[in-house]
Amino acid sequence: MKKLFLSTLMALCFLNGMAQLKTGDVTIIPEPVLLNSMPGSFVLNERAEIHYSSQAAGKVAGFLNDFLQRNYNFKLPANGYSKEPVEATYPLIVLVEASTGKTDGYILEVNTGRVYLQGDAGGLLYGLQTLMQLFPLNKGIPSAHAAIHLPGVRIQDHPRFAYRGMMLDVGRHFFPPAAVKQFIDMLVQYKFNRFHWHLTEDQGWRIEIKKYPRLQEIAAVRKETIVGHHRRSTTYDGKPYGGYYTQDEVRDIVKYAAERNITIIPEIEMPGHSQAVLAAYPQFGNTGGPYEVRTTWGISKDVLNPANDSVFTFLQDVLTEVMDLFPSKYIHIGGDECLKDRWKESAEVQQLIKKLGLKDEHALQSYFINRMEKFVNSKGRSIIGWDEILEGGLAPNATVMSWRGEEGGIAAARQQHDVIMTPNTYLYFDYTQGQPATEPLNAAAYLPLKTVYNYEPLPGSLTPAERQYIKGVQANIWTEFIPDQQMLDYMTWPRALALSEIAWSQPGKKNYLRFMRKLPLELARLNSAGVNFRIPEPVGLESKVVTTPTVTVTLKPPVKGSFIYYTTDGTQPGKQSKVYTQPFMLAVPENGSSLVQCIVVLPSGRISPLYSATYVRKPYLPALTVKPGKKGVQFSRVSDTFVNARQLPVTGDSSGVLPAIDIRPLSLKNGGVTFNGYVKIPADDLYEFHLNSDDGAVFYVDDQVVVDNDGQHDLQDRSGFLPLRKGLHKIRVQYFNVGSGAWLDAGIYRDREKLNPAEVLYTGQ
Ligand code: ACM
Repeated sequence: MKKLFLSTLMALCFLNGMAQLKTGDVTIIPEPVLLNSMPGSFVLNERAEIHYSSQAAGKVAGFLNDFLQRNYNFKLPANGYSKEPVEATYPLIVLVEASTGKTDGYILEVNTGRVYLQGDAGGLLYGLQTLMQLFPLNKGIPSAHAAIHLPGVRIQDHPRFAYRGMMLDVGRHFFPPAAVKQFIDMLVQYKFNRFHWHLTEDQGWRIEIKKYPRLQEIAAVRKETIVGHHRRSTTYDGKPYGGYYTQDEVRDIVKYAAERNITIIPEIEMPGHSQAVLAAYPQFGNTGGPYEVRTTWGISKDVLNPANDSVFTFLQDVLTEVMDLFPSKYIHIGGDECLKDRWKESAEVQQLIKKLGLKDEHALQSYFINRMEKFVNSKGRSIIGWDEILEGGLAPNATVMSWRGEEGGIAAARQQHDVIMTPNTYLYFDYTQGQPATEPLNAAAYLPLKTVYNYEPLPGSLTPAERQYIKGVQANIWTEFIPDQQMLDYMTWPRALALSEIAWSQPGKKNYLRFMRKLPLELARLNSAGVNFRIPEPVGLESKVVTTPTVTVTLKPPVKGSFIYYTTDGTQPGKQSKVYTQPFMLAVPENGSSLVQCIVVLPSGRISPLYSATYVRKPYLPALTVKPGKKGVQFSRVSDTFVNARQLPVTGDSSGVLPAIDIRPLSLKNGGVTFNGYVKIPADDLYEFHLNSDDGAVFYVDDQVVVDNDGQHDLQDRSGFLPLRKGLHKIRVQYFNVGSGAWLDAGIYRDREKLNPAEVLYTGQ
């Protein structure tokens, strides 16, 4: 009986998830716990009044009035009350501070005559964000007395994760206080509650520290900046670049964020990413300098010297001022990418390692972080560090931010440490959203919206008890290639909308198809608000396998009110091309493929990058009847000079197994590597194989070349498509590099969703 009940319930949930959105349906991002449409609607006009129960509710009334003023040019009278008002003869908006039983939870009811919002202080604020999404898209009412209709609903909602964050790097590029506040405004709109402010970098120190004025005078300014991609450019712009936040500005921003239920977690990097500090205070380095604030991207070998005790005094002084400015319980102290070259070269550092009885430089880094943790703990605060703080032993109370995939987070949770998941494989918003070649200058790794959306922060390999340590998720926005607010918007949205559903929505409520159906309206709102989001691919533009001589292509504009211009003859589409008005027929030759290319144009005239879909009419490659080996791929590495990847010998100088097709652990300069293994294909479908590399690379599937990106070249990306049957297929990637700038991003995608290497890659027997 119980079983039957459960399966019926599951079937209902499934149907609910798949439900088509109808015109007029209420859609909210992030998806709430419960949303029911109710009869009637609330007519909001200038006769309406807001009544609120408490100071926190009054603050939310103020935010609602700001929203009305901004969009409709009027405000409503707002009155506090001690007893809930009885029947009113005017439209009433009641804001009640009272817990719904869940932290940051709320109940929102919209009826004829009344809007009722109840929640704790956070919940009221989040309920308001939901309420604002009930307003119609067409803003600006011509007559002051015209009415705004809000649809009848009952919504009950609370967050999945307590930590819902976004990180902004203001070191590589400086974002003035107004831009930071705007960023915070956007975060609260989608119910984020942590802003991780990455304040110091090799390329610039961005926070005023009174005790160390040279941080402002020297460390905050670099003499010039690399132009283009640092892996291929040798040109600098010759223009000084700098900026920092004064302590007054910081206090103001902290207060501004707190009013919006956002805790700011400041990050002061140590012991790496500190070249700007060394430019100001060369005595804190190992070589004595001179140093300059770094002018190119990448990681500096010059780091803080742990053998100099005044380094610790400096950092403690800095953190004392920082903790005075930021009430956050958590203080981020970096800890990532500290190259050990200088420590290995330094006699005094080697002496310190001996004196402390440490194993190596990793243990020394651990000593460094432990020492700083003790200091931070002594002030009643706790540290967060990047996952490198696991190396050499974790500091006792540290929270780990897992960025090099999920492995660090998994290891930390198993050691019963709190974890924030920020894996670069899913949540690095400096990675490109489309094919690197057609997107603005970017970090060259491909991270489409769908891959982000389907990220699940609780790893299946952890036990339920271990999963309790995963406190939440965060996306990181590194700004090497994000010079200004426009580009920041472009890289952040709509991927941050996807993240909002990861962070806030219950797992059973997450549904990519529904999200994609909600997106056009939400993006139209963002467009009206002047947000320069990346225009997504048209809904329905998907590469696929076809079995008939013609197929019908059905598209939908990705932003409400936008237009799609397309070609099917291989030429570049423009505004002179056909505009999409209805589904069209596309011929696909036998044993061949056809290409649809398009652009999307917003009503404002803004144009998307070039988008395409390939329709392949070829037989599926059958799966192999082999037994897979271990998880991961075999690699074979050779140090030699090559001019193409196909030249690589079958056996190399060294070999082993890696979790993914990734050259980063191999420190490759002049040489090559061959990866061999199997991919477990989840279902019969068309798969995209993608290579972005400097220099050349070739991707083989079942012994045939599927992507040829070979030859000596700068960063260049290529894709190939293959219809594959479910099961195991043999893969091989050959890659070579000469000189500097080694880079390989290799991925397998199914409808723009990256297959997770940890789940699908296997070695041979
Ligand atoms: C990082 O991306 N270096 C944390």
